Amino acid sequence: MCVRPVRADDADDLQDGFALLSELSRYRRFHTGTPALSDRVARYLAEIDHVDHQALVATPVGSPAIVGVVRFIRLRVRPDEAELSITVADDWQRAGLGTCLLHLLIERARAVGVRRFTLEMLADNEGILALVRAAGGVVQPTDSTIASGHIDLDATQGTSG
Ligand SMILES: CC(C)(COP(=O)(O)OP(=O)(O)OC[C@H]1O[C@@H](n2cnc3c(N)ncnc32)[C@H](O)[C@@H]1OP(=O)(O)O)[C@@H](O)C(=O)NCCC(=O)NCCS
Repeated sequence: MCVRPVRADDADDLQDGFALLSELSRYRRFHTGTPALSDRVARYLAEIDHVDHQALVATPVGSPAIVGVVRFIRLRVRPDEAELSITVADDWQRAGLGTCLLHLLIERARAVGVRRFTLEMLADNEGILALVRAAGGVVQPTDSTIASGHIDLDATQGTSG
């Protein structure tokens, strides 16, 4: 597997990767029934500054297909915090890729002064709940369907390699 920062010319591959996600994975990532990534959103997700908005993508060796994306977007009002999102293609889930991507992003975030990741997730999304907790994060229910969580980056270990 190769992991690299997203590039401005990845918009089409991000759309293709999104199209291959199951309906459940799309819903868990975006909390809506969005059937496709629009051109505008795909460009927004690809054309980033890599300081206030960073994303790493995973591609199988020898393939341009994007099978994992982890991203942070810094909060304007609290610049040492950033919103985290992560998606692994269904066929690649539960193989450690999400954990690997998260730890690599944590290193990038620390390097630009981000000290906390925050995120909202569906309260029954066992995968992200486990991922956040394994990274030393905390999750609390917001209501019966949504939970909010955070990971303090100062408290997490370095990359798992
Ligand atoms: C959440 C997600 C990113 C996890 O990625 P992944 O590559 O499957 O995660 P990993 O294989 O590294 O697993 C991390 C931990 O979560 C657990 N886990 C993963 N999927 C799980 C599931 N469906 N149910 C229960 N536990 C699960 C693993 O067992 C592992 O726990 P461990 O460290 O105790 O062994 C992936 O399931 C996904 O993309 N889901 C759809 C989109 C989404 O929900 N995004 C999060 C909202 S921002």
